[in-house]
Amino acid sequence: MMEPVGLVLVGFGNVGQAFAQLLLEKQAELAEKYGMRCHVNGIMTGRHGAAINPDGIDLEEALRIVREGGQLKQLDASDFSGDTLDFIQQSPGDVMVETTPVNPRSGQPALEHMRAALSKGMHAITANKGPVVYGFQELTALASGKGRKFLFESAVMDGAPIFSLFRQPLAGARLLGFSGILNSCTNLLLERMEAGETLEQAIAYGASIGITETDPSNDVDGWDASIKVAALSTVLMGHPLTPLEVDRTGIRGITLEMIAEAKEAGQRWKLVCSLERKGEAFVARVRPETVGPDSPLFSVGGTSSFVVFNLDVLPGLGVLESDPSPKTTAFGLLADLIYTQGKA
Ligand SMILES: NC(=O)c1ccc[n+]([C@@H]2O[C@H](COP(=O)([O-])OP(=O)(O)OC[C@H]3O[C@@H](n4cnc5c(N)ncnc54)[C@H](OP(=O)(O)O)[C@@H]3O)[C@@H](O)[C@H]2O)c1
Repeated sequence: MMEPVGLVLVGFGNVGQAFAQLLLEKQAELAEKYGMRCHVNGIMTGRHGAAINPDGIDLEEALRIVREGGQLKQLDASDFSGDTLDFIQQSPGDVMVETTPVNPRSGQPALEHMRAALSKGMHAITANKGPVVYGFQELTALASGKGRKFLFESAVMDGAPIFSLFRQPLAGARLLGFSGILNSCTNLLLERMEAGETLEQAIAYGASIGITETDPSNDVDGWDASIKVAALSTVLMGHPLTPLEVDRTGIRGITLEMIAEAKEAGQRWKLVCSLERKGEAFVARVRPETVGPDSPLFSVGGTSSFVVFNLDVLPGLGVLESDPSPKTTAFGLLADLIYTQGKA
């Protein structure tokens, strides 16, 4: 009988729930292919309470309760009370899966969650860019000292393999820079504007399908794109950057006239993210640019995203992710989970 891997979920929103759903869907496959059985021993949320059960929480039930707006307390077998750090201390588990909202200015409270889990001897996985940008070196050292892993594949381009690509397949290659479309929301907004909508109308549409947040500034003003550029720079280029250090322009200045002019010229506006190494200097930028059909960015539509890496031995390696969903992000977490168990 295989020993179960104990999971502790901190955050149970779109991504946390999609991850739980994916675990249920892939239960048999994980057992068959990787000899893995997973138990979720704890779930912590902001407004939906928490549950700890060392024998494993009924995930179907947890999903139902949260979707109906209920409290997870009903599934708690340990009489838990306290905050998220107490929860991490008290939850028995091998791996923490962290999916709380991102804070682009400090990385908190996710950074503190990662510290607590790693210090306790758990592997720590997150979809949150904050701890990557504000804690990459510290958390990697902490994990290594404990013989554990700090992983974050889903933090940039959801489940598309970006960070893991540089672990083994690209070992020995040196990254000189990259460019791409890393914020899928603005890509969709610009496409809607090409169809004649104003930015406000496009934002309202984005909100109606759950793509833009109540405060769209994170996407529209280029913060999300900047924190992704900072994460790639920090991890893949060994050049620590915060989003505040990225030269950032969002899409608020793009008018319907500019869109029409570009169209006339056979071009499209895209929010382009880039990082270029110039000697000792690094130029990190997020800004709207027009691109023509000769650019690989031209045909990246809807909520898709794309990055092209410029490597010393491979001048243009592109990764395209088409139409991601929370399930795609959940997959990145699952891939990290499998890696912590030495199965991939
Ligand atoms: N959505 C995507 O497809 C996607 C893609 C890539 C990366 N990400 C990243 O993944 C993370 C989660 O995104 P999401 O869309 O799932 O967000 P979300 O739907 O807002 O869910 C966030 C979850 O975190 C909980 N939470 C908030 N503060 C907490 C705290 N201090 N302690 C414990 N739990 C707390 C919330 O609880 P309550 O709801 O009960 O308050 C909720 O369950 C974010 O960092 C995001 O940037 C998301």
